[in-house]
Amino acid sequence: MLVLDGKIAAAAVKATLLEQTQALKAAGKRMPHLAAILVGNNGASETYVASKVKNCEETGFGSSLYRLEADVAESVLLAKIAELNQDPNCDGILVQLPLPKHIKESKVIEAIDPAKDVDGFHPVNVGRLVQGLNTFIPATPYGIILMLEHFNIETKGKNAVVIGRSNIVGRPMSILLSSNIAQGNCTVTICHSHTKNLKEVCLGADIIVAALGVPNFLTGDMIKPGAVIIDVGITRVEDATAKKGFRIKGDVNYDEACAKASAITPVPGGVGLMTIAGLLKNTMKAYQGL
Ligand code: GUN
Repeated sequence: MLVLDGKIAAAAVKATLLEQTQALKAAGKRMPHLAAILVGNNGASETYVASKVKNCEETGFGSSLYRLEADVAESVLLAKIAELNQDPNCDGILVQLPLPKHIKESKVIEAIDPAKDVDGFHPVNVGRLVQGLNTFIPATPYGIILMLEHFNIETKGKNAVVIGRSNIVGRPMSILLSSNIAQGNCTVTICHSHTKNLKEVCLGADIIVAALGVPNFLTGDMIKPGAVIIDVGITRVEDATAKKGFRIKGDVNYDEACAKASAITPVPGGVGLMTIAGLLKNTMKAYQGL
């Protein structure tokens, strides 16, 4: 059984990006720059954004973190985005989700210049993804594709099941896996809370992407021997014995899945690291011009 180690695959992506930024530096050029906006102080979001900024530093990218209070007016956030849209030194804009309830997520996403939308959430970029045009692929599905590529996982003609239909992961993942790309050409089934016979559907899968956010949801009895298991879950589960008071749990029962799968991503240390690799690649793409 192969462990699809995100540290290894992400390090390879980051090494290539570092070479590119070093070449830019040697040529006296400006560095790619990511602007991240964090509204409020959700613990998980704080961790993700801090990690994104740290990874920018490690690959020679510039970054700015703008922090806004949880009760900030939507208009203030929109004004910040408008300012960054106009800033020639800012290549990529990321507004960490989720946003507080009083802010309309779709309005914020649509305010970002599609050419700086390194999350790939703007409807223009989603439309481009659906049509197979050049675009920013949302970072998590992009990271999963990069992971499959790094470990030479064959996807062509395979049955893939994606559990979860979010705009951030499930839906774009299903589109990518069915696309005519190197890590695509699958026959894809997308499952959600109304899916009947989920266990039987999963048992027909050569590749399962679990992206529903329910710890230990995918159990061994749902996995066909030899399947490839991609675990996107990163739920914080309270644990008084852990140093931080919680542990990160994936959507897959790892031990049970290991007994069945041919390859599996661990949590932590799997898809999460690849999400950042995808984001950095998108930021370089924004710098170079979409
Ligand atoms: N929240 C969870 N995942 C993501 C992501 O990929 N991008 C942003 N902006 N927010 C998120």
